[in-house]
Amino acid sequence: MTKTLLLLPGDGIGPEVIAEVRRVARALWPDLALEEAPFGGAALDAGGEPVSDATVARAKTVDAVLMGAVGGPKWAGVARHLRPEAGLLRLRKEMEVFANIRPALCFAALADASALKREIVEGLDIVIVRELTGGVYFGEPRGIEDIGGGEKRGVDTQVYTSNEIRRVARVAFELARKRGGLVHSAEKSNVMETGLLWREEVTKLHAADYADVKLEHILADNCAMQLVKAPRQFDVIVTDNLFGDILSDEAAMLTGSIGLLPSAALGEAGKPGLYEPVHGSAPDIAGQGLANPLAAILSFEMALRLSLGRADLADRLSAAVKTALDKGARTRDLGGAMGTREMGDAVLAAL
Ligand code: IPM
Ligand code: MG
Repeated sequence: MTKTLLLLPGDGIGPEVIAEVRRVARALWPDLALEEAPFGGAALDAGGEPVSDATVARAKTVDAVLMGAVGGPKWAGVARHLRPEAGLLRLRKEMEVFANIRPALCFAALADASALKREIVEGLDIVIVRELTGGVYFGEPRGIEDIGGGEKRGVDTQVYTSNEIRRVARVAFELARKRGGLVHSAEKSNVMETGLLWREEVTKLHAADYADVKLEHILADNCAMQLVKAPRQFDVIVTDNLFGDILSDEAAMLTGSIGLLPSAALGEAGKPGLYEPVHGSAPDIAGQGLANPLAAILSFEMALRLSLGRADLADRLSAAVKTALDKGARTRDLGGAMGTREMGDAVLAAL
């Protein structure tokens, strides 16, 4: 049966990195059906919405969706519900991809590109499992209201149900079982009610189904500190939407470049996954052919493995990326001089 991948290039460097994914996909799996739709600011400019109903509907029926990046200064003044980012949040919510898997892997060849010392990051291999469809990103009420006397009040709501916590924690425990057998659950149970519930639910689930996995609770601020102090103590970190957003950027930088990190957002088994490079739209270098396409290419690798049923091709692709890096392929973020297209060429050559 033909499998279908929906590409959403989006904004900024998104179209450039997705173009390289397209070339790699063509070479690796000629029969994979590739579709494409406008997304984010590009969709807003073209059709008045950051994601159309048709794109959302299609995203729910294909086998996997791969996004480039969204947002940029051009849309900074747009109303919140029309912002490019709102399109991404809507897509995550409607696809019900509640578990965002963000690996941070330090390739040996790149340990010196990290801002931390080689001995601290070399061999780093951790995964952040970020809750993606709940918490303060979606909680109601929210808004900015006038409270008189020239004053305003801004409100966001952090909210989690037991089920939302359990299902993402389950993903983390399952993953840890196949890796180092250790889960750190990060929250702020010392000050937040949602943090307390988070800790209780994770503890219960662990005792009931995952006693073979080692569980550590860690306060999110301490987790941020430990990530730069001794990152290799971690295996899998499970955390909420906002902490996960922040901690995954931090973890990304440990590896030498955010330009290298892929992510997978997954829902219930059998539903299409949403794959995204962790980097943003990088407006400062957009359109110049300078962006590193590896995060997008590695996101495709995760899609092959987790949604498209082709672990064999995923293995070949990750080996090709490693070979390209070992042979010295470097975009500017990695201290080299290659452009987007040349890095794509290096991966294709290694394939
Ligand atoms: C991310 C990004 C998004 C987020 C933005 C673009 C909405 O920072 O995927 O980490 O905050 O989730
Ligand atoms: Mg982020």
